[in-house]
Amino acid sequence: MRKFIVAGNWKMNTTVPEGELLANEIQTKIWHYDRDKFQLIVAPPYTHLATVGQILDSDRVKLGAQNLFWEEKGAYTGEVSAAMLKSIDVEYVIIGHSERRKYFNESDEILLKKVQIALNYNLTPIFCIGEQLEQREANEHFDVIKSQLENVILRLSAEQLSKVIIAYEPVWAIGTGKVATPEQAQEIHHFIRQLISEKFSSNLANDLTILYGGSCKPNNVAGLFEKPDIDGGLIGGASLKADDFLEIFKILIDKKS
Ligand code: 13P
Repeated sequence: MRKFIVAGNWKMNTTVPEGELLANEIQTKIWHYDRDKFQLIVAPPYTHLATVGQILDSDRVKLGAQNLFWEEKGAYTGEVSAAMLKSIDVEYVIIGHSERRKYFNESDEILLKKVQIALNYNLTPIFCIGEQLEQREANEHFDVIKSQLENVILRLSAEQLSKVIIAYEPVWAIGTGKVATPEQAQEIHHFIRQLISEKFSSNLANDLTILYGGSCKPNNVAGLFEKPDIDGGLIGGASLKADDFLEIFKILIDKKS
């Protein structure tokens, strides 16, 4: 069954004490909800994961990492492995965020290896795709999305793919305050589901969770979450304020109940 999710990507924000405060506020304010249908996730920086994980009750708020390395272990100074994340009860990992593609030159080839090691360790990848502004303006967005999927996600087995969450994050909407319209996002989400349906099956495509990310705020998510192929949000800036983050989750539950 398709799951509806709000995930907070804290990016490189908050010190550890600030992160603890934020996690405590989320933990204090989160309510009981239908966990078969909905999920709330936070993805703080690596340095925060262990303590934030202890603060959060994993029955209600799951822990995600923002990245991982593709090798099992060894001489890779500064990197963090899937086994390390697993050992502190991380359950999700963001892979292929546009900021990592841009600043760290993460290619599709690297991203496929990251998705595979995550799946081998039973970490759920939140795999990000999205076009840049020039690509949208040149009307290339469908081609970009198709190639990002073909080079990574569509190379997985059906069983592997059934464990992946996809996040559509148009690069021009990230951190810009310029949110995609519900129609623009729905069109891409539908396209993603169609591609997966063609390559695998409509059942698999229907069960898949596809999140939208890019300037989501409590005042603009209702229209997005009303769309049939938008199953929640990957939230940057607004996930740093507990009230905004939880309000977005509340709107998701309201729209998908
Ligand atoms: P903003 O919500 O700050 O635009 O960030 C979106 C994002 O990149 C989440 O991964």
